[in-house]
Amino acid sequence: MKGKFITFEGSEGCGKSTQSGMLFRYLLAKKLKVIYLREPGGVKISEKIRQLLLDPKNKISPQAETLLYMASRACVVEEIIKPALRQGKTVVCDRFLDSTIAYQGFGLGIDIKLIKLMGNFATQGISPDLTIFLDLPVKKGLKHRDKCKDRIEQRSIKYHEKVRKGYLKLAYALPERIKIVRVREDKFKTQDNIREIVDAF
Ligand code: TMP
Repeated sequence: MKGKFITFEGSEGCGKSTQSGMLFRYLLAKKLKVIYLREPGGVKISEKIRQLLLDPKNKISPQAETLLYMASRACVVEEIIKPALRQGKTVVCDRFLDSTIAYQGFGLGIDIKLIKLMGNFATQGISPDLTIFLDLPVKKGLKHRDKCKDRIEQRSIKYHEKVRKGYLKLAYALPERIKIVRVREDKFKTQDNIREIVDAF
């Protein structure tokens, strides 16, 4: 693949969407050919799957939840990410396969080896070149969420702690790819840290 693939990861309320959006605009200003996506989402069918996954009214088993995230990912990879990387574009994506490892693997107890296997199938082997993991204590993050929590946000603090610990484990295991950025009070300071990492990359 000619293009570079940058993903953002983090637990609830870490400011991931704000920070990834800021980085996208920074890269655009540098005249790079960049596209910006979020997961689950990015294409029509994946946005529909997102609605199903996040609707608190839906009862979804851990297995079905994992498969739905993978199905959404398979669509966006085939339609957007793969062609963009082939054309040499930079892809900035808010969440990717690491989210499934953290939320469904570490969080729900789905076998991580199996997630990686399914992930390889869904992504056609496409993996991020650089991942920014925005780290924030769980309670602080959940405070940023409004009262109408979605199906995943509604889960217990204990669940979200497992997700955060899972992310940290992943980051420590793959320090070349996954960079931990501590979330600061000032969003511009957090962004400065991210830009330093991306510029060096
Ligand atoms: P967002 O709130 O960051 O847009 O992500 C949507 C929610 O979906 C968030 O609670 C994290 C969750 N999620 C998973 O549980 N597994 C996944 O594979 C992905 C991509 C997201």
